[in-house]
Amino acid sequence: MFTSVVLVVLYSLVNGHNSNNLITYELTFSDLYSTEKLSGNVINVDNNISAVSVLENLPELRKGMLNITYLIYLCIENVNLQYMEEGVFDNQNISLISLASNKLAKIQSRIFDNLPIIFLSLSGNEINFIENGAFRNMLSLRELILSQNKLTQISLGYFDNTPHILFFDVSFNEMTKIEDGSFSFLSDGDLTILINDNAVEEIHPRGFENLKIIQLSLSNNLVRDVPVELFTKNKIGMLVLSSNQIEEFPDIFSEETNSTVKRVAIYDNPLNCETVEKLIDSERKSGPSCFLEHDRVARCRQN
Ligand SMILES: *[C@@H]1O[C@H](CO)[C@@H](O)[C@H](O)[C@H]1NC(C)=O
Ligand SMILES: *[C@@H]1O[C@H](CO)[C@@H](O)[C@H](O)[C@H]1NC(C)=O
Ligand SMILES: *[C@@H]1O[C@H](CO)[C@@H](O)[C@H](O)[C@H]1NC(C)=O
Ligand SMILES: *[C@@H]1O[C@H](CO)[C@@H](O)[C@H](O)[C@H]1NC(C)=O
Repeated sequence: MFTSVVLVVLYSLVNGHNSNNLITYELTFSDLYSTEKLSGNVINVDNNISAVSVLENLPELRKGMLNITYLIYLCIENVNLQYMEEGVFDNQNISLISLASNKLAKIQSRIFDNLPIIFLSLSGNEINFIENGAFRNMLSLRELILSQNKLTQISLGYFDNTPHILFFDVSFNEMTKIEDGSFSFLSDGDLTILINDNAVEEIHPRGFENLKIIQLSLSNNLVRDVPVELFTKNKIGMLVLSSNQIEEFPDIFSEETNSTVKRVAIYDNPLNCETVEKLIDSERKSGPSCFLEHDRVARCRQN
């Protein structure tokens, strides 16, 4: 008994991770309650299934491992996934895919091509390279989550004929700059863009030009200068600039500027007192409402 266990372990070590490529997964039926645990070489999903979660170590996702006629949610999370073979998702009918908390480092261009999914999460991997065209012809995609990776930039080349993304999250990466038109691949609908916890020092004046944004969040970065164009060339509901290095603000307060931003959160910045006063004033002049720390306001007013 003991010897055979040892032999099986040795055998799997010698042959990579999983001696016979068995995939262990759980189905959740459409009542969202009953589940069934299965294993096999292929994840077979007919209808009547709402979710499939892979449960055990799956370092490689190869073509032929999926045979999905109709599925709402495919969850391949936290199973040490390192490699996906091109074509693995071809002809699979899935609405939402999460590949979060794995070890993917690179996203090749032909993985998601033409896939009619609505939601894709690649959060919590080690992605530092995305090939041009990686997100091509994804006509239904609304939400793309790239948070907690190692990206230093978002290139327009990644996106090609994928025009409906409304929710884009690239928080907890290594971005240092927002470049001219970086986000012009996004939908012309109401957007949420999250770039929190990066190392952004520079925002190009046209970085977000012509976008309609419900929330743009850049908290916990290294921003010093806020371009005035952010307030004039976009429609932004809520702009979050908390925990940056901002001392001064552009003059968004005069009536000529016609700021189109409604609310600005600016906690935890080394704002000078003149800026603090201007920000407090802003609301009275029907400019954006600004959220500041009370103690900073109090300190400025004391002097
Ligand atoms: C794929 O699923 C269909 C039914 O949904 C089945 O007939 C076919 O045998 C499956 N193919 C493989 C390779 O398992
Ligand atoms: C669908 O799933 C439910 C709940 O598990 C089950 O009772 C029902 O028989 C299934 N229907 C089909 C067509 O498989
Ligand atoms: C996916 O399956 C659903 C439900 O069966 C169907 O309505 C839809 O047309 C299918 N989509 C594709 C691309 O095959
Ligand atoms: C600012 O907005 C007001 C009212 O919408 C408009 O009359 C004025 O021309 C605008 N000013 C500028 C500089 O765009």
